[in-house]
Amino acid sequence: MNRTLVELLAAKRDGEALTDAEIRHLMASFADGTLPDYQMTAFLMAVFFRGLDDAETVALTEAMLHSGSVVDLTSIPGIKIDKHSTGGVGDKVSICLAPLVAACGVPVPMVSGRGLGHTGGTLDKLEAIPGFRTDLSADDFARTVGTVGTCMIGQTKEIAPADRRIYALRDVTATVESIPLIVASILSKKLAEGIDGLVLDVKVGNGAFMKNEMCGRELAEKLVAVGTRAGKKVVALLTRMDAPLGVAVGNAIETREALEVLHGGGPADLVECTLMLGAEMLVLGDKAKDLTEAMAKLRKVMANGSAARVMEKMIEAQGGDARVVSKPALLEVAREVVEVKAPQGGFVTGVNARAIGLASVAMGAGRTRANQIVDHAVGLAMDAKPGDAVHKGQVVARLFVRDRARGEALADRVAAAFRYGACAETPGPLLMGRVPACG
Ligand code: URA
Repeated sequence: MNRTLVELLAAKRDGEALTDAEIRHLMASFADGTLPDYQMTAFLMAVFFRGLDDAETVALTEAMLHSGSVVDLTSIPGIKIDKHSTGGVGDKVSICLAPLVAACGVPVPMVSGRGLGHTGGTLDKLEAIPGFRTDLSADDFARTVGTVGTCMIGQTKEIAPADRRIYALRDVTATVESIPLIVASILSKKLAEGIDGLVLDVKVGNGAFMKNEMCGRELAEKLVAVGTRAGKKVVALLTRMDAPLGVAVGNAIETREALEVLHGGGPADLVECTLMLGAEMLVLGDKAKDLTEAMAKLRKVMANGSAARVMEKMIEAQGGDARVVSKPALLEVAREVVEVKAPQGGFVTGVNARAIGLASVAMGAGRTRANQIVDHAVGLAMDAKPGDAVHKGQVVARLFVRDRARGEALADRVAAAFRYGACAETPGPLLMGRVPACG
């Protein structure tokens, strides 16, 4: 006999596993209004405490995916692969990665997000490019992936609408930090892009959602298991997010840095992260037999300018000013510069990513309330990173602001994010772990 909605909530509250049909029924009832927000919230809290097994997480992911439509990319030849990062500070990898991978022949459809809390968002960074539109229709998205090789847009109304509603409830009911709910949320959106495979960058550290390696690994394993059960090729890397990635944090300033990588420059950690993820994408996309061959191909398209050409074509197709690719200085960065200096000599032993992310939000580069307009021109650059030797009074960071007084008020927060010591502490490796494709 079918159980009522309240009986299903009670079953999950008591730690029972629900069947596929029961999860589909809950989600269908949420969609048609029979299950109101307060009952969905009770379900989310029950999941928060009791968890979901892999079969339940697959059922929830698929129900959320089919709450909207799936972009049809079947007419585009090749294995379509995307990358998703669970979010960090200074993480501008997607902006250089998508054109690099597309230039190697793997189509990259990418639906990205905006800044969340202290973390930045790819869409906000891309919108620093004059005219660039991230609100293309599903048809234009598919057409651009087909003609250019990649396209980067935001979640449309059709893409996993249940996730949008559920995420808003989780945000205000203290149920964001639940691994099965995070998995269903991420994968429902990614599967809606029409991809064949996905490379996940699970960030671990004080600047990430997953604060320690154990939680990061659990999330990565669940993402790979559930994505594989949904019929996709999925690999996850665990990467360190204790200090910001690269040196730039903000919007225009990060996009400039990502463009440097496309031309073969950029900070070493950002290049390493981009190449590691890109290599996994080329292997999943059958364009390289192993990671070594994939890295060589990525370096080649950086050096011969073909990745930069893909970026120009993508920007043009999305209404933006493609001249920024060869002239990144066209991306406006605020003119007032406030310097942060080392209070002592020695070594930088850490730069707290979360504190830097929060300072950048306070500068106006991110949001403290929904729908707030971000300032693309403000941001900061770190002139010293963990492991670097510094002398007293050396500039370790610069804030780029519109208003000097405001910048000076925030400089203390940036200064407080830096730790110093008498001895060099080598930061741990960027790559903390890898969960290979299974099945
Ligand atoms: N990113 C998402 O898209 N969903 C989550 O639940 C967490 C991070």
